[in-house]
Amino acid sequence: MDSISSSSSNSVVVAMVLASIFALVHSITLRSDTEALQALRRSIDPNMIPPSSYISSWDFSVDPCDSTGAKFLGILCSNPGDNVTNRIVSIELDNAGYDGFLTHNIGNLTELTSLDLSRNQFRGPLPETLRNLKKLTMLSLSGNFFTGGIAGWINGLKNIESIDLSENLLSGPIPARVSELRRLTRISLANNEFSGRIPDINGLWKLDTLDLGSNMFVGSLPKLPTKLRSLTLSHNQLAGHITELGSLKELRHIDLSDNKFTGSISRSILSLPSLNQLNVSFNQLTSIEVNTHLGSGSPLQVLNAQRNRLQGHLPVSLVNFENLQVINLAYNGLTGRIPLAYGQRLGRPWRSLFLDDNFLSGRIPRQFNSSGSRISGNLGNNCLSCPVTIPICGGGQRPASACIGEIGNQ
Ligand SMILES: *[C@@H]1O[C@H](CO)[C@@H](O)[C@H](O)[C@H]1NC(C)=O
Ligand SMILES: *[C@@H]1O[C@H](CO)[C@@H](O)[C@H](O)[C@H]1NC(C)=O
Ligand SMILES: *[C@@H]1O[C@H](CO)[C@@H](O)[C@H](O)[C@H]1NC(C)=O
Ligand SMILES: *[C@@H]1O[C@H](CO)[C@@H](O)[C@H](O)[C@H]1NC(C)=O
Repeated sequence: MDSISSSSSNSVVVAMVLASIFALVHSITLRSDTEALQALRRSIDPNMIPPSSYISSWDFSVDPCDSTGAKFLGILCSNPGDNVTNRIVSIELDNAGYDGFLTHNIGNLTELTSLDLSRNQFRGPLPETLRNLKKLTMLSLSGNFFTGGIAGWINGLKNIESIDLSENLLSGPIPARVSELRRLTRISLANNEFSGRIPDINGLWKLDTLDLGSNMFVGSLPKLPTKLRSLTLSHNQLAGHITELGSLKELRHIDLSDNKFTGSISRSILSLPSLNQLNVSFNQLTSIEVNTHLGSGSPLQVLNAQRNRLQGHLPVSLVNFENLQVINLAYNGLTGRIPLAYGQRLGRPWRSLFLDDNFLSGRIPRQFNSSGSRISGNLGNNCLSCPVTIPICGGGQRPASACIGEIGNQ
């Protein structure tokens, strides 16, 4: 109502009155939907609304769903025909740096299917009334400064398919009831301050992508759904074994780096039929189970297991992985020779080979001599005969005193 009385133009008032009389031709936005938009706009610091931004086009002297031209950018309305009240079904803002917060009446937008406020400077807690958005399928609030938890509202989003809350300051646990949101295909909570154990979510049978990286999660791997293709749990404090991932046959991308996982990089994981990238670096894993039957037909391109506690010899059968290009086993406790077969893979297909900071010994395969231009990598800080004139030999080897016991392995 403010917007009408503040209008200086009589013709606008007349037009508004006519519009409501001839409701048969002009649909009108439900009052509480308009109010929710007004509240959102009011919450934003006016100095943080750039002139050509979407929000600056929100002109409440006209009806949001009955506006034409470049008004109410970022809003979509339902299209119910001529006679019915219009509802807001989508809010997708631009990345204009809006500094504001989400008010309670966001929950009045009960026909909303999509809400995207990503890459702005929204802050404060997410209101519990979000739980009323039963039709929401896409929620993206990533890259803001939202605080507080998600437990109070998230399981109200009965139709949600994609949730991206990454890069905020959110905290607290993931409620177990998130596993009731059966339509979910994608969850990202990365780069927040979430904590507690990750609940079992194997009921989310449509889930394709799970990214919980860079939080403070503890405990062991939860039960995960079998359709999962991309799993990122890096930079948490997760522990226990990782073997059960070997049963998730659709996995293409696994990043478990920088946790406290122990045990072995099992055969079942290395033989996942679609696995393209495996990053288990910065953990406490002690063995890698590559045997002669593995590798053929595997799409694996990247294997990063640096900075673990891997023992034993380098697995010869790595050469069977015909698509492997990037290998990093640096900073482990690996011993013995570099298999001669590795020499034939240098440059093609292997583009990158880091074996530095182990206890490898003996001569290097002759292909390494001229490897410099064809491969990046490092064999430094081992117990190898590796002349420093060869670039891949890095800055030299361990002192003999650190290699006692390894020499006998030659
Ligand atoms: C149009 O709206 C009016 C007033 O709400 C209602 O009486 C009428 O039945 C509606 N007509 C249709 C076709 O929905
Ligand atoms: C809109 O939301 C507010 C706050 O949640 C509530 O008090 C009010 O009743 C709602 N209005 C309508 C029309 O639903
Ligand atoms: C693997 O994880 C480490 C540590 O989180 C990270 O630095 C690296 O970029 C990751 N990716 C690959 C492909 O190794
Ligand atoms: C490779 O380098 C080693 C050590 O310098 C040397 O003994 C060997 O003859 C070289 N082989 C070839 C083929 O250049």
